[in-house]
Amino acid sequence: MGERAQEASSAAAQSPIPEQIITAIERFRTAIPANFDPNYVEKVVIPFFLTNIYEGERPLLPMIDPNFSKENALPHDVFGLIYRDWKPTPEEGVMVFLQGLEKRGENNLRKRIYFSAVTPDLYKPMYRAKVTAFFDKLLDQKFADRPFMRHYLDHYFDLYWDLHLGLVGSDIPREVREIGEAFNTVFAYRDPLLPITYHNYMKVRELQDFLKSWIGERISDIQSGKTKNPERTMAWHWLKNAQDSGHFSKKDMVVECLHDFVALSQWGNAIFRVMSLLSEDGGDQAVRASFQKTMSGNFDTAGGAPFSPLELFVMELFRVISPNGGSVSTIHDARSSVHGGALQQKVGLPFERDSYVSTPHTSTSLDSIHWTDPNTFDPQRYLRVPTSAQINDDKCRQIGLARCPFDITSFKVKDGRNARIKNSGFGTLFVVADERSYPVCDYAGFAPFGFGYRRCAGERLTILVFEDFLRKVWRDKIVFRKLDLANPARVPVGLDAVIQDDIGFNRFPLR
Ligand code: HEM
Repeated sequence: MGERAQEASSAAAQSPIPEQIITAIERFRTAIPANFDPNYVEKVVIPFFLTNIYEGERPLLPMIDPNFSKENALPHDVFGLIYRDWKPTPEEGVMVFLQGLEKRGENNLRKRIYFSAVTPDLYKPMYRAKVTAFFDKLLDQKFADRPFMRHYLDHYFDLYWDLHLGLVGSDIPREVREIGEAFNTVFAYRDPLLPITYHNYMKVRELQDFLKSWIGERISDIQSGKTKNPERTMAWHWLKNAQDSGHFSKKDMVVECLHDFVALSQWGNAIFRVMSLLSEDGGDQAVRASFQKTMSGNFDTAGGAPFSPLELFVMELFRVISPNGGSVSTIHDARSSVHGGALQQKVGLPFERDSYVSTPHTSTSLDSIHWTDPNTFDPQRYLRVPTSAQINDDKCRQIGLARCPFDITSFKVKDGRNARIKNSGFGTLFVVADERSYPVCDYAGFAPFGFGYRRCAGERLTILVFEDFLRKVWRDKIVFRKLDLANPARVPVGLDAVIQDDIGFNRFPLR
């Protein structure tokens, strides 16, 4: 009898697990490549197959009840990418993305501190030059007619670390670039049985400690003044605004940099999808016509509206592209209250089953409950629905609620700006800086960035980055088109996205 079979039969003798379940598990184990590290098998492969993710309701209002919790709301097989012990280890730092509302401090304080580093008022003075330099380099004519996404990924970590810590080029060690790419590759493929997932997962494990110490040291450089223009980094704003609140330690900042691998990786997927929609061959006629129309007018002039024409166009792009499929929550096992304890525990099943609910984005954005014309590409639609600055008690009562689900409060930013981070009655954050309000569309029919208190902190930053990408495309008369390649490479460009790298760009004098 092999070692595994012996283990199985002795497990069967000690526990009441029926023989056929043990046999099924054995059969499953034989499907796992023999060269996989046993820890990887136990902590990644098996939990992956014991996880269920259910499709949740399409919300009518732009919020998710905290009963669907954010606390550790990621399938357990990915925790080894973040923590040495393969499981949530808060002593090593936590990310707001995986924190239940009840743990975030008063009125979502932790999220407000995170958000303070990426609010739209900061973009022009602090981040814009970094982003436009990146696009200028990427779209240089010498790279024309080459597969674009591999090229994008080769430069992407310069932008990533420049935004977070103010570092580019040779200031970013090879290991740091490698672990970033490995991390994103795991999230792009997700299937733990694939050799590519395995190798990249183990590479992250190998370089994890190095990365965390490096980030910690570079944050200290920002604190000590060693870093040039520290106020042009996200970490500087986190340090200033966390102060001694006890809600955003340096270790938390390190872990946030790991979270952001996943967050910002979605730019890659979104850029690829935008190029596909705008491409000369195979693009979408309605999107191309809308781009032409938007850019032929005063695309940066909002004229009293909450969003400029270019912002509206980018928002509509994100509604149709929806690079992020759903907001994932942990749920309580309702049977435990009926039967007095989890059934698996009672019958001695030695596996933890994990179940999650995903509140869907694309189908919510395309729901005919929210729009009369959900399938039409129409950037103007956001001028007819409320913004986060408009959702107050009166509006909530008008909708039929007795009160706002979230108290409306304000957090004064402490980094020298005249800015407050406020929230809508649905819990959605937005900034008011120098008396100007920068709201988001607070309507369930606009779902790509999630909902309410847990909505994406980087939404407006992302929209601003894509505005700059499109300004560049328009100004330089850039066109995208399919390349004639026999075997286009498959490239992991973002969360759940491995694409055929077969689109390139060029410039044409006549549009
Ligand atoms: C294409 C780009 C992006 C998309 C589509 C996107 C989408 C989302 C979505 C749907 C959520 C909500 C998840 C949930 O409720 O379960 C979220 C949360 C979050 N995003 Fe993004 N994101 C993007 C870029 C970014 C960027 C650039 C940043 C930071 C610079 C960022 C930071 C965050 C944070 C911190 C959260 C957690 C919010 C919370 O739990 O309160 N995201 N994102």
